[in-house]
Amino acid sequence: MEKFVVTGGKPLFGEVNISGAKNAAVAIIPAVILCDEPCTIENIPNISDVTLISRILQQMGAKVRRINKSTLYIDPTHISSSSATTDLVRGMRASYYLLGALLGKYGKAKVALPGGCNFGVRPIDQHLKGFEALGAETRLVDGAIIEVECDEEEGLVGTHIYLDVVSVGATMNIMLAASRAKGLTVIENAAKEPHIVDLANFLNSMGADVRGAGTDVIKIRGVSCMHGVTYSIIPDQIEAGTYMCAAAATRGCITINNITPKHLESISAKFREMGVKITEYDEAIIFDATKKPLKRVNIKTMPHPGFPTDCQPQFTALLMSVPGTSIVNENVWDNRYQYISELIRMGAHISVEGRLAIIEGGTPLTAAPVRATDLRAGAAMIVAALEIKGTTEITDIQYIERGYEDVVEKFKALGADIKKVYFNESSEELRA
Ligand code: EPZ
Repeated sequence: MEKFVVTGGKPLFGEVNISGAKNAAVAIIPAVILCDEPCTIENIPNISDVTLISRILQQMGAKVRRINKSTLYIDPTHISSSSATTDLVRGMRASYYLLGALLGKYGKAKVALPGGCNFGVRPIDQHLKGFEALGAETRLVDGAIIEVECDEEEGLVGTHIYLDVVSVGATMNIMLAASRAKGLTVIENAAKEPHIVDLANFLNSMGADVRGAGTDVIKIRGVSCMHGVTYSIIPDQIEAGTYMCAAAATRGCITINNITPKHLESISAKFREMGVKITEYDEAIIFDATKKPLKRVNIKTMPHPGFPTDCQPQFTALLMSVPGTSIVNENVWDNRYQYISELIRMGAHISVEGRLAIIEGGTPLTAAPVRATDLRAGAAMIVAALEIKGTTEITDIQYIERGYEDVVEKFKALGADIKKVYFNESSEELRA
């Protein structure tokens, strides 16, 4: 077993390079299935979710080779089946993108239903509604496998789809299937996240015809073939937001490189409201939280361009250190506050009332053993641990490593006292 041991209380200073966006990578890698030739994908984050989705493609017959730390070569031409039902598939939420990609390419797909998640039910009804509107039949088999299939002669046929909720996954999945359907598909009330635009750009670079990504109406005219490309994934705005939270929590000053500042607008606006000085360059920012005492703020998570839910736990952890009452309103997920009981173990004064978390910041905090209850919750534990003068141990770090590349090395380079320790659960004996 592994855990992070963090001794906090020191401001972060220095530079950090942001990796490619996880939530773009986990859609773009399966999107290669749609292509009739091999593709090379650059700026891929070296995280366990990417390893997992790559292995799933390999199980299906694709050749996937890591050319270097951030570049994957994927040859989908040997995929022999439209079925993906192994435990690996079940273990990964984003494996639902296999449905759209396989349906688009082969007119059918059989994919294991992704398991539950630590922040509650995550329905995919809008994905299925989209596939059905395109002419596919959908079936849940034994409560564990989803089958989608269109008429062999008819194929998928473009149509109008209005999403009842703004869903990142449904928008991308429908884009994947529709990109090889006959005629025009229009998705209304589409999600607008930067990774939606990135997927559209990737599909277009292979010869697809996707317009309007980044607005709430996306038009996709299906094409009959797609050619191989070399494509570079956008930087991860949530990873950048996490380092911003950590720098603010320790009242430090850091330079964040390899980012698109525009993707961070809603996060930067909140930090400016708190009193942080942010200087923007083309692909970097200087984030300076040393100048003034930070002010309390309220946040409400919203689909893009609102404040991202994936930065909510890290921001809440930061707000523990800011005197006054701050209110967080989680407006995307029903139940994304499980991690708060871990922050309370550290002495946080936070109460949860439905979608609201009310934080009485600036109270004394103490180190305590805590768990990463999911990926962003784990990132929040690091932010909290960096605030506290004592030594915090964080377990279940496999969640953190699903989405953060070289997290220990990157924080160390900013002056943090953080290390990964291997331990035997029964004896707690440390090896390194
Ligand atoms: C993506 O999940 C991200 N995951 C999540 O990031 C992120 O929190 C979320 O978008 C919102 O930004 C990936 O990209 C792999 P949604 P997704 O469909 O697509 C409801 C992280 O930490 N809904 O936009 O699954 C749903 O319940 C992860 O990196 C339906 O009701 O999210 C939620 O309330 C965690 N029916 C809301 O919509 C559906 O069919 C938004 O979900 C689909 C969603």
